[in-house]
Amino acid sequence: MVGRRKFLHSSFSVAGALLFTKHFPFPAQGDSGADSRIEVLLGEPLGIISPNIYGHFAEHLGGVIYDGIWVGENSKIPNTNGIRKELVDEMRKIKAPVVRYPGGCFADSYDWRDGIGPAGKRPRRTNFWADADSSGAPANHKYEPNLFGTNEFARFCKLIGCQPYLAANVRSLPAEQFYQWIEYCNSPAGSTTLAEARAEAGFAEPFGVRFWGVGNESWGCGGNFTAQEYAVEFRRYTEWAPRYGQELSFIGSGPNVDDWEWTRGFLEELTRKGKGRLRSVYGLALHHYAWNLSRGRTNDWNQGKGDALKFDAVDWYELLREGQRMEGLIEGHWQVMGEIDGEHRVKLIVDEWGPWYKPGSEMVPNDLLQQTPTLRDAVFSGMTLDIFNRHPEKVPMANCAQLINNLNCLYLAHESNFCVTPVGHVFGMYSAHQGGQGLRTIFSAPVINYDRDGKPATFWGLAGAASLHEKELVLTVVNPHVSKATEAEIAIRGASVKSGAATTLTHSDIHAHNSFEQRDAVKPQTSVLQAGAKLLHHAFPPASVTKLELVLE
Ligand code: AHR
Repeated sequence: MVGRRKFLHSSFSVAGALLFTKHFPFPAQGDSGADSRIEVLLGEPLGIISPNIYGHFAEHLGGVIYDGIWVGENSKIPNTNGIRKELVDEMRKIKAPVVRYPGGCFADSYDWRDGIGPAGKRPRRTNFWADADSSGAPANHKYEPNLFGTNEFARFCKLIGCQPYLAANVRSLPAEQFYQWIEYCNSPAGSTTLAEARAEAGFAEPFGVRFWGVGNESWGCGGNFTAQEYAVEFRRYTEWAPRYGQELSFIGSGPNVDDWEWTRGFLEELTRKGKGRLRSVYGLALHHYAWNLSRGRTNDWNQGKGDALKFDAVDWYELLREGQRMEGLIEGHWQVMGEIDGEHRVKLIVDEWGPWYKPGSEMVPNDLLQQTPTLRDAVFSGMTLDIFNRHPEKVPMANCAQLINNLNCLYLAHESNFCVTPVGHVFGMYSAHQGGQGLRTIFSAPVINYDRDGKPATFWGLAGAASLHEKELVLTVVNPHVSKATEAEIAIRGASVKSGAATTLTHSDIHAHNSFEQRDAVKPQTSVLQAGAKLLHHAFPPASVTKLELVLE
């Protein structure tokens, strides 16, 4: 019986453990055998979950653009105007809402003018990543052929039905070029010389780009600015930007992980000329990669990394611990932002996130920063998306790094080969949350205890998020335990359940992944739930991500 068990319980809710104690909702446990509980509070809305937290990121890096997205118009690989068709089809299925482009670090060395006009006349340039590429990397990874530029990206977004998010070059282009890129994208048909150039390429109507990143990682590859210096640049770049009736949402380069001083310094300097300046910022971009699997031994960027495919149970939990830091980062930066921006006009945009492993697991040899996502990365991604789901008032957009052939990718592709990774399947499952009303949900489950090189360590036992869509409740739940199922009683406070279905992504092998040869080794399974009392009692398999879709009455 759960009440008598000496389990350590973690209470996991957006409002913390105190509220859990106050609202402890369950009667003493019956015969169900459940040792965990999930309580969804219909009366405690958190805010609308922005579809854009399910966003993507595509950079001119390794095989992301060339071979991943762009196969070329004359390719035998099915394509639409040179864009890989299978990718577009998959992205439509998951309702991809927004794609960030063209970087990343690449953005601050990119001249958008190189990527417009007739393909044959576009220049070849040294890619920002050229020196990091291996000697065997394809030439078009090192020397940017500019075959895929603004027009092709806009077409790609149109095919998917998503919004473009462009990251502008602050390090090496003047502000004038930022304004002119906006002019190229958004000025009305026939209005300017740049609108005419756009029309000549076949795009008379404006692209209507709303989201603009003002630089990328301006504390590092984007110019090595101090927060104060960058704030001055931000004011200058955004001070006069042409609107053409199009709402523009400027995203400032935000903190690296837990650099609270960057957040504070940027907002202090930005508002030196008055709090009104806060109106010029839609969001601050937060980046966090989970890379340090050294179990506390080192903070060295190269030494600390783990392997994408070869890992043990401790590595599994360590990666999740690194990823779980995201929640504290969101809460911490939000608090710092509130010191200057009491009304919280400025939001957090997590436009790069995901695990980052050492080289060695590339499915396509010589593709820089390519890694093979496994079930571990799917669980990581479910956990991270649920963190965003739990903070709808703070995070209106997030972009997984990166879309294809890179880091925490949803897809792997090479020539005519293609597969959806376990991460891609999680995005498919979680798209059901888009636009729903986030609900406070309390998770209570035995914590996981494990041995971290002779020292005891713990990780939470069950976590997730819920959202309401009229009469349908979507509840996503992650069970991070590598080998134990967790049985939970589920209570929906304020309604009863008429019917439902469960979709689960798991595998008996925690290293399981998809490949070009075995495209479906890891894929979600859906089953109809039995109506009645049992509906509120569910066993979450080990190492799993589950989505419950419950019709309420
Ligand atoms: O996603 C890879 C790189 O990581 C991006 O270019 C950069 O912004 C970050 O450091």
